[in-house]
Amino acid sequence: MAIERTLSIIKPDAVAKNVIGKIYSRFESNGLKVVASKMAWLSEQEAGQFYAVHKARPFFKDLVSFMISGPVMIQVLEGENAIAKNRELMGATNPKEAAAGTIRADFAESIDANAVHGSDAPETAAVEIGFFFPGMNVFSGR
Ligand code: PPS
Repeated sequence: MAIERTLSIIKPDAVAKNVIGKIYSRFESNGLKVVASKMAWLSEQEAGQFYAVHKARPFFKDLVSFMISGPVMIQVLEGENAIAKNRELMGATNPKEAAAGTIRADFAESIDANAVHGSDAPETAAVEIGFFFPGMNVFSGR
């Protein structure tokens, strides 16, 4: 199995709920290691750039406004099949459809305020890691 890195964001709703530690604990107890992290309050420009792929979608404005509504915790997770593993731990985009025991089922309120973001493919992970941690290796090692 491949050791991968993926980009994770704990969104403003979960930061406001004070559950960063609980979410980190889910990563750690499921074999994902936090190998980089920073807290940030994104600007409208940064959030718009990060979500540029969704620019044409009807919820784009709401998504950007939500992501700049408070600080976020951004981390790179490393582990076996980290990209899929993180998505599995997150649960479905809409918390109402998220499987029991997933982060979104337990900590998210709505499709707008859904607690976490995770890269969805190796190509996206590479771009997203580079966006927030420029110069960081996408793979384990230096
Ligand atoms: S995904 O994760 O890309 O497969 O999900 P997708 O449904 O394509 O959604 C992409 C991101 O947009 C967010 N989203 C929304 N935000 C606000 N309002 C509505 N209605 C909405 N629908 C989807 C969703 O949480 C995804 O954000 P990230 O940060 O990538 O999880």
